[in-house]
Amino acid sequence: MKTVNIAIDGPSGAGKSSISKAVATDLGFIHVDTGAMYRAIGLYAIRNDCLAPEAIERVIGEITVELKFLGGAQRVMLCGEDVTDYIRTPEVSMAASKVSAVPAVRAHLLDLQKKIAAENNIIMDGRDIGSVVLPHADLKIFLTASAEERASRRYLELREKPNCPPYEEILKDIEQRDYNDTHRKIAPLTVPEDAVTVDSSNMGFNEVVERITALIREVME
Ligand code: DC
Repeated sequence: MKTVNIAIDGPSGAGKSSISKAVATDLGFIHVDTGAMYRAIGLYAIRNDCLAPEAIERVIGEITVELKFLGGAQRVMLCGEDVTDYIRTPEVSMAASKVSAVPAVRAHLLDLQKKIAAENNIIMDGRDIGSVVLPHADLKIFLTASAEERASRRYLELREKPNCPPYEEILKDIEQRDYNDTHRKIAPLTVPEDAVTVDSSNMGFNEVVERITALIREVME
């Protein structure tokens, strides 16, 4: 049976994951967060001191990343360990950004991403989903927002937590990751030609969910 594949790409902090999760729940699809896979490898690189491209390249063949879907929620397994709760720190974000520029790391994850898409109705979010992983997706969405808007959303989220970095630091971090993601040689973040761009800078969460759900329903008709 042909599965429905929706690609959602965009920069860090654009809300891809939370929006995709909400839309997937509405439609009964699986949400695949590919960033979490790169984060798992970033965590491995921190733990094993192999962040340098040559170092991660040497060990990538030994690293297993698997996704499990428990009640629709994605769990990420790194070499058999559920690391879902350890991959959202700023340190892991930066490590993920670095390892994701290494071709051998991308190749390692590509087959797994394609396999999940072939077997399930999915909304897959990342940076290269429409351009590389699912070039024939039923719909490609580029979800974005200004760097300032993304930084202030992140700041509001972290403000109540201990050690919240200042807004300026969050903004700098986002700009650095945008630069890394758009300037790497392999699978850089780009707007696929046939993608629908949704700029959420001045939109509320529910508004974005409704807009994307409507776009998906249109292609499923
Ligand atoms: O979406 P995220 O912030 O969780 O992604 C973590 C890092 O992984 C980010 O720096 C970009 C990278 N990434 C990628 O290169 N390709 C993807 N398909 C998804 C994420």
